[in-house]
Amino acid sequence: MDSIIVKGGKELKGQIHIAGAKNAALTLMPATLLSEEPLTLTNAPRLSDIKTMTALLQSLGTEVTSMQDGKVIALSSHNLTTTKADYEIVRKMRASNLVLGPLLAREGNAIVSLPGGCAIGARPMDIHTSALELMGAEIELKDGYLHAVAPGGLKGNVVPLRFASVGATENILMAATLAKGTTVIENAAREPEIVDLAKCLKAMGAQIEGEGTSRIEIQGVDRLGAATHAVVTDRIELGTYMLAPVIAGGEVECLGGKMELVKSFVEKLDACGVDVTETANGLLVKNRNGRHTATDVITQPFPGFPTDLQAQMMAMLCTADGTSVLEETIFENRFMHAPELIRMGADIEVHGGSATVRGVDRLKGAPVMATDLRASVSLILAGLAAEGETRVNRVYHLDRGYEHVEQKLGAVGAMIERVQGE
Ligand code: EPZ
Repeated sequence: MDSIIVKGGKELKGQIHIAGAKNAALTLMPATLLSEEPLTLTNAPRLSDIKTMTALLQSLGTEVTSMQDGKVIALSSHNLTTTKADYEIVRKMRASNLVLGPLLAREGNAIVSLPGGCAIGARPMDIHTSALELMGAEIELKDGYLHAVAPGGLKGNVVPLRFASVGATENILMAATLAKGTTVIENAAREPEIVDLAKCLKAMGAQIEGEGTSRIEIQGVDRLGAATHAVVTDRIELGTYMLAPVIAGGEVECLGGKMELVKSFVEKLDACGVDVTETANGLLVKNRNGRHTATDVITQPFPGFPTDLQAQMMAMLCTADGTSVLEETIFENRFMHAPELIRMGADIEVHGGSATVRGVDRLKGAPVMATDLRASVSLILAGLAAEGETRVNRVYHLDRGYEHVEQKLGAVGAMIERVQGE
């Protein structure tokens, strides 16, 4: 297993290109299952999760061709060979559950392994299944697999979500495009990745209104056609790299960054004394007067503060002037980066879903362990300004969601290298 070594103390200067969104690509790719015509995705990120989704779709019979070093993905689901998504692939990546809605809509049946829990929480699928049942699906759990059938096809209905689940909204949105009649999703997730999915589905011929709001209305159609779609910029990668110059000092321009993707995050940075300026090519970030100060954070569904930036924000607050309180309301166990940051000298107290961070002058480099995708990158961010060397182990977590992190940070002056695992 590879490790990444960061030596702290260098201010950063330069530009970082922000890639296409992992969490958009992982729902856009299964959309191919809704049509017999080709779907081409451009601006795709080069990540191991994309490879996992590719393998899953290929196991169902989809032809997937990756071009231009992975930035373009051509998919064709003309002939599906099975509707069973196998545990061996699904257990590696929860987003595999996004084939459930499309398979059910296209084939009238689907057998999808329950993803199982992961480091950050139990992550059940009750919101997905109860919504699909309202559309006429019959779903039974057998041997760890969801066995779903839709005798006579899915039917449009009013589908209220008890929580604005991103994945459930995506599964229902995709399924509803081919259902008979009108579907209304109430309390729908509003993330930009949902808006991007709707844009792609409409390019394929779907009839959708209200994406980006809590109420999405879909008129089912008989079939969907071909489309080419550019994946939206990754707002989580964007927010992650915006924090690098705040922690390490200096000034970094995040190319492709757009203010509307990170509005609540930028409001928090402003409260911490950070200047974010829109340029012709992206967002320019630097500390207003050398230091950053504490602030409180509560994670919420979009447009609130994103849970996927909570770990990275905590890394920044570890060396802020003052005391911050972070509340994680989306996942039940998403503070695993805290013990690792404490090993670097951070002053953090975790009580259930809340963490109190008292800023210290400087962290000290240490060997630390990556536990999940966003925790991994928060440790690298912390290492940028820590005294001495920080060695982040098990960086396979990182490679799931960040393309070439050592190259992107190295290009703006960070002392960072990847060492091959033993
Ligand atoms: C998506 O996961 C993202 N993944 C996550 O990003 C992100 O953290 C999350 O949305 C919240 O924004 C992808 O898009 C591939 P949810 P998803 O359904 O869809 C509970 C990353 O780091 N819940 O909105 O699984 C669930 O347990 C990843 O890139 C149910 O109880 O998130 C969680 O506590 C991590 N029942 C909360 O809702 C359900 O049926 C949010 O889950 C579904 C969800």
